[in-house]
Amino acid sequence: MKSYCNVSSSSLILVLVTILLFFTSVNCEDPYRFFTWKVTYGDIYPLGLKQQGILINGQFPGPQIDAVTNENLIISVYNYLTEPFLISWNGIQHRRNSWQDGVSGTNCPIPPGKNFTYTLQVKDQIGSYFYFPSLGMHKAAGAFGSIRIWSRPRIPVPFPPPAGDFVLLAGDWSKLGHRRLRRVLENGHNLPFPDGLLINGRGWNGNTFTVDQGKTYRFRISNVGLTTSINFRIQGHTLKLVEVEGSHTLQNTYSSLDIHLGQSYSVLVTANQPVKDYYIVVSTRFTRRVLTTTSILHYSYSRIGVSGPAPPGPTLDITSSVFQARTIRWNLTASGPRPNPQGSYHYGLIKPTRTIMLANSAPYINGKQRYAVNSVSYLEPDTPLKLADYFNIPGVFYVGGIPTSPTGGNAYLQTAVMGANFHEYVEIVFQNWEDSVQSWHIDGYAFFVVGFGSGQWAPNSRGRYNLRDTVARTTTQVYPKSWTAIFVALDNVGMWNIRSENWARQYLGQQFYLRVYTPSKSLRDEYPVPKNALLCGRASGRVTRPF
Ligand SMILES: *[C@@H]1O[C@H](CO)[C@@H](O)[C@H](O)[C@H]1NC(C)=O
Ligand SMILES: *[C@@H]1O[C@H](CO)[C@@H](O)[C@H](O)[C@H]1NC(C)=O
Repeated sequence: MKSYCNVSSSSLILVLVTILLFFTSVNCEDPYRFFTWKVTYGDIYPLGLKQQGILINGQFPGPQIDAVTNENLIISVYNYLTEPFLISWNGIQHRRNSWQDGVSGTNCPIPPGKNFTYTLQVKDQIGSYFYFPSLGMHKAAGAFGSIRIWSRPRIPVPFPPPAGDFVLLAGDWSKLGHRRLRRVLENGHNLPFPDGLLINGRGWNGNTFTVDQGKTYRFRISNVGLTTSINFRIQGHTLKLVEVEGSHTLQNTYSSLDIHLGQSYSVLVTANQPVKDYYIVVSTRFTRRVLTTTSILHYSYSRIGVSGPAPPGPTLDITSSVFQARTIRWNLTASGPRPNPQGSYHYGLIKPTRTIMLANSAPYINGKQRYAVNSVSYLEPDTPLKLADYFNIPGVFYVGGIPTSPTGGNAYLQTAVMGANFHEYVEIVFQNWEDSVQSWHIDGYAFFVVGFGSGQWAPNSRGRYNLRDTVARTTTQVYPKSWTAIFVALDNVGMWNIRSENWARQYLGQQFYLRVYTPSKSLRDEYPVPKNALLCGRASGRVTRPF
């Protein structure tokens, strides 16, 4: 199967063709899928009350994206809102192409009444992800949707094809609407406790998933909420875990699964119970008040509705969550996006060149609630960092604007960019001294979650790392007064957002950008600025085609 460009070929013609193809930021003969998305306000009633939602093509949640590994997705987004708008792609790695990431550090917002066409390639990826609106608390109003990346036809998937493939976008929800929530944050407060939980935009028993007795189904569950971890379970059924954000897992069976903010899981569920209806349950995790919502697992021909109480799940207990997290492991012999086994990449045998330690905090700065990493609370610049970098515009940011380990100093506001070299292999320790569970996401990469531990991380904590078969994923939790360690191969040049997936924290500064740099200007390492790039701030009026 010919799916990769041979960029190292010495054939002049091939090199020229390759360069031409790079100019349009798409790759060789990999197929294209085209999407036209109209983003509008619209009335939604997720908790029974009318609210202003943000719809894509009239839908809440937005349309589902189905793609096969390596396909190119050409997505034209028309912003019919009265606010600037951007979409970002949780877990899509955008190889060599942070230009398409859709966060405020990489892209100018699409102004009201304007459009922008994203050119993504789901290069070397499989699995379950989602997209979301990245600006202005829009995520509290909708405009998110699921992304399923299917394996190429001849690449083995380590389980028989399921009889159905269901998506559940679950998460906490507030009745206040995105504008009021934005005001709350801007006035220097955390978000209020959510009003409820939604599954696919609906509340209690709002969705029905129909199954045939005896058959097995895949459920892909993402936590698209703003503030809380959730627990997922199905009355009378077990969950066989098969995939986590692109990694095929050991197929352990669970009675319930914790899904932290921004995470995605696939489980297989066999309809092996008497023909009737069962509750599918999602509840908040680690919250004193527990919110719950349900959908219905409906057996075909069932005439017995759901009954009994929805099965309870774990609530405040942390130990069981840590225990479960450690059981989530890679199936070393299964294929991932490529035919060779996932385990042929021996992440644990590579020695990291350095350790970055990131400590979250919740300081007050100028009398307002902010959130910070290593005492730096991210301040949004007037010009996207990626454009400032590309056009060498001084004064927007400086590399090193955030320390690589906690200083213990007073928190301050800064447009935080950390520098790293292309091909570095780094250990990152997320150190959490706060009482709440953190959820961290890195754009542009999947990373190996090598360890969870309590208290302060120390070099001897490495003795308990899983250097053999942890999963590669894009979002990890960090338990209260605990640490999580990851290994990541910085093999993707670009300006990459590292952020809290807790939306108040992200909005109020618990994020920064990692600039993965190479002095080479080779198109093999990074694509040039796209022809259609929107320009704003100090990049307005620049010429985007210097080649
Ligand atoms: C989309 O935006 C481009 C400019 O970026 C403009 O030329 C084009 O007319 C727009 N298309 C539509 C249908 O509005
Ligand atoms: C791992 O994947 C293989 C397919 O390569 C499958 O046969 C096996 O059952 C899986 N093992 C576990 C423990 O899930």
